Amino acid sequence: MIEIDKVHKSFGKVEVVKGVSMTVEKGEVLSIIGGSGSGKSTLLMCINGLEPIQGGAIRVDGIDVHARSTNLNELRKRIGIVFQQWNAFPHLTVIENVMLAPRKVLGKSKAEAEEIAVRQLTHVGLREKLKTFPGKLSGGQQQRMAIARALAMSPEYMLFDEVTSALDPQLVGEVLDTMRMLSDEGMTMILVTHEIRFARDVSDRVAFFRKGVIHEIGTPDQVMGNPSRPETAEFLKSTH
Ligand SMILES: Nc1ncnc2c1ncn2[C@@H]1O[C@H](COP(=O)(O)OP(=O)(O)OP(=O)(O)O)[C@@H](O)[C@H]1O
Ligand SMILES: [Mg+2]
Repeated sequence: MIEIDKVHKSFGKVEVVKGVSMTVEKGEVLSIIGGSGSGKSTLLMCINGLEPIQGGAIRVDGIDVHARSTNLNELRKRIGIVFQQWNAFPHLTVIENVMLAPRKVLGKSKAEAEEIAVRQLTHVGLREKLKTFPGKLSGGQQQRMAIARALAMSPEYMLFDEVTSALDPQLVGEVLDTMRMLSDEGMTMILVTHEIRFARDVSDRVAFFRKGVIHEIGTPDQVMGNPSRPETAEFLKSTH
């Protein structure tokens, strides 16, 4: 379970997350929607300890992410994160890219890492691309490779930050399908997305961020089907 408890986050004097609280249960899919600059990416960075916080706490299975005693490297093994773009090592093949973290971070043997990489790349539909170089993949294939790379660490949680927004429209579907598959398999996920219809479809709950706070949170039917606040309705209208 991920517990976000009255979290405040500032960059210098500018507070961008202003007292956000929510919990994500095991197996749950939570989508974060909201306008540009509302603090969505910042919160994701705080969840896996890429950014310090100035108030409140974030706990992952009871472990305080920002406590001095917390081993962030250990924690991050359990939280996979996929961004809009991931720069793979261009001189390594797809399979070699995916093998890196299991080898270096988990200390797996070459054979074990290979087995893991083949399994995860097959899982995301890239069985045919193992020996290809990343530069030869389409944008959608590159994002699926990034997902496979995160899955190769056997994470318990996955965070996705607008993984489809840099893609040509015709490539979005294959990446969304991969995320849908993970959710069907019971992966606990937090996804920041502009794909409103997808979020509505795949999420257990949706949080609408506005100006650093959760303006509205609830089931997709509540937040998207029957928003209780005018700003939520306005935002949704602006997305199509
Ligand atoms: N490293 C940083 N240093 C200073 N300010 C930052 C930094 N990262 C983000 N910010 C600011 O924090 C605010 C929230 O940014 P954030 O990236 O979390 O927004 P977002 O909701 O993800 O927006 P978008 O939908 O455009 O991705 C913005 O005003 C941004 O300029
Ligand atoms: Mg962002």
